[in-house]
Amino acid sequence: MARKVTKAIFPVAGMGTRFLPATKSVPKEIMTLVDRPLVQYAIDEARAAGITEFIFVTSRGKSALEDYFDHNLVLEQDLKSKGKDELLDVLNATNMESGAIAYIRQHKALGLGHAVWCARRLIGDEPFAVMLPDDVIAADKPCLQQMVEAYEETGGNMVAAMEVPTEQTSAYGILDTGQNVGTVVRAKGMVEKPKPQEAPSNLAVIGRYILGPSVLYNLNQKRKGSGGEIQLTDAIAEDIGNGVPVFGYKFDGQRFDCGSKAGFLQATVSFALAREDLRDDLSRYLHDIVATDRAAQ
Ligand code: G1P
Repeated sequence: MARKVTKAIFPVAGMGTRFLPATKSVPKEIMTLVDRPLVQYAIDEARAAGITEFIFVTSRGKSALEDYFDHNLVLEQDLKSKGKDELLDVLNATNMESGAIAYIRQHKALGLGHAVWCARRLIGDEPFAVMLPDDVIAADKPCLQQMVEAYEETGGNMVAAMEVPTEQTSAYGILDTGQNVGTVVRAKGMVEKPKPQEAPSNLAVIGRYILGPSVLYNLNQKRKGSGGEIQLTDAIAEDIGNGVPVFGYKFDGQRFDCGSKAGFLQATVSFALAREDLRDDLSRYLHDIVATDRAAQ
């Protein structure tokens, strides 16, 4: 039986240049979908999957992210004295236990593999999860929880996987699969951001991983890959060559690419429509603007 996964790495060192000027002073991960920061969605998903240790790989300019996870005692007192219990509950649900979060700085932007490697001493000799908060996944059962349950049967390494249009393969890690049937697919190889004509399939890696410590050993080599960066995909692929299995897990749920403006907006609308307090007004508004737009054409 596979060992329990209790640690997760959140690589959040990226500068978020696609969201400038907002990200000039606000870390991308603090930007909100409705009223919750992106990172809160990732934390909630990790907690649902049984994660108890949260490791953030950060960089210069990310202190707002660290503050976000502190208790805000002034605010708590204020809400308490005004009897605003519902808001107090909302606030308390975001508090983290002392010692549950660790922050490691990635001193140079050398790639996702390097960011994960920066957390190696906190991982030690255990399996661990990696969660990319840009990938937000709406699902009845949170994606990482689905994966942890599957991983308990398979062991090895597991990556979240999703079919993408062939013309988009160069934006993803792509799995080389034999037979692509069922929910769990064994990979024969993995390649980072291949051109469509070179892609071994159209099954893409989405930002949820459960990895063994051997991936960290592979990252010790600091080999550069696609874009001149140290790629996590390459370190996982190396495990396949060493006989450690890698599985793609075709999760149940809808993934939003919140690293892009279009994806962020779609997630905002979708999450707002899922909220009882916002649904009716928003859906009326959306119908109206679509109708006006059609009439104008
Ligand atoms: C990263 C990974 C890539 C993966 C993607 C998922 O790429 O390197 O393998 O498919 O996340 O979102 P990035 O989007 O950071 O360029």
